Amino acid sequence: MGLIYKSLTDEDFKVLLALERSLTNREYAPLQVIEKISGIYEEKLQLVLRKLHDLKLVKRETISGEKMYRLTYLGYDMLAIRSLAKANILEAIGDRIGVGKESEIYLGLAPGGLQVAVKFIRIGKTSFRQTMRVRVWARDKPQTSWYEQSKIAAEREFKAIKELASYKAHVPNPTGYNRHVVVTEFIEGVELYRRPSLDNPGKVLSEILFTLTIAYHRAGIIHGDLSEYNVLIRKSDEKPFIIDWPQYVYREDPSARDLLKRDVFYIVKFFNKVYGTSLEPESVFNTIIMGNHLG
Ligand SMILES: Nc1ncnc2c1ncn2[C@@H]1O[C@H](COP(=O)(O)OP(=O)(O)O)[C@@H](O)[C@H]1O
Ligand SMILES: [Mg+2]
Repeated sequence: MGLIYKSLTDEDFKVLLALERSLTNREYAPLQVIEKISGIYEEKLQLVLRKLHDLKLVKRETISGEKMYRLTYLGYDMLAIRSLAKANILEAIGDRIGVGKESEIYLGLAPGGLQVAVKFIRIGKTSFRQTMRVRVWARDKPQTSWYEQSKIAAEREFKAIKELASYKAHVPNPTGYNRHVVVTEFIEGVELYRRPSLDNPGKVLSEILFTLTIAYHRAGIIHGDLSEYNVLIRKSDEKPFIIDWPQYVYREDPSARDLLKRDVFYIVKFFNKVYGTSLEPESVFNTIIMGNHLG
C-alpha cells in the first residue's frame, strides 16, 4: 500500500479526485466527464487511467459500448492517505496488521515517530455476506453507497473514541480521520481472544468494566459488539483497550439496555471461564447501570 502511494504523481491524484467527485452522481464516469473535472486532456488521461487500472485503483467497465471508470476502495484509500499526510497525521504507511469483519488495519508512522494504527473501513463491496448486511442497514438510507457508509462509520468511530479518550476510558488515542480511514495510537498488544496469560485478570476485567461505565454514563453510548476480538491487552502493562466502536448505540436507543447487558454478560462470562474470575454478570450489569465504577 505504501509503495503504491509513493508511485503516484499529482496528475494521478487529480484523476483520482475527479473519480471521487463523479462517485456522487453515478458510480461509473465516462472519459469526457473525467477529462472535464480533472482538466487533463484525453491522451494523457488515457495513460493515467491505464496506470491507475494496473494498480487496481480504478475499475473499468464497458457500459453500452462506452468505457467507464470508477474508484475502487484502494483508490479511495490513496486519497485518504494523501489528505492525512497533508494534515500531518500520517507520514508513512507500513504492513497490514489486522483484518476485521469490515476493515483492514495497517501500521503507520506519524510525524515525530509515533506508531499509529490506520483503520481502512470497507463496508460492502467485498463479500456477499457483507453486502447482505449493508442491504439491511441501507433500508433506512437507500441512497447511501459503499464509500459513504464507510465514511460515516469512520467519522462515527473517530468521534466516539475521541470523546471516550477525553474521559480517560481505555481506548486507543485517536489522532485523526479522513474519508473512510481512522488513525489511532498503535497498541503493542495481544487480542484477548488469544487468551494471553494475565498476572491480574480481575484488574483487567474491572478496567474493561470501567470503560463500559464511562461510555454509558459520560459519553452516553454502548459499544454493542464487545467480545474478546475487540479487546487488546497491552504487553508492557496488561492494560486493556477496547477497540472497534463504529456500531455503538446511544443510551436513549430502545435496544440500549439489552445491548449493554449482552456486552457485559459476554465479557464477564468470558473472564470467568478463561481466567477463573467469579463475578456475577447480573450484579455487574446493575453496578454499571448505577455508575458505581466511576469512583
Ligand atoms: N490501535 C490498534 N493497535 C494495534 N492493533 C490494532 C489497533 N486497532 C486495531 N488493531 C488490530 O486490527 C484488528 C481489527 O481491528 P478492529 O477495529 O476490531 O476492526 P474490525 O471492525 O474490522 O473488527 C484488531 O483485532 C487488532 O488486531
Ligand atoms: Mg473488531
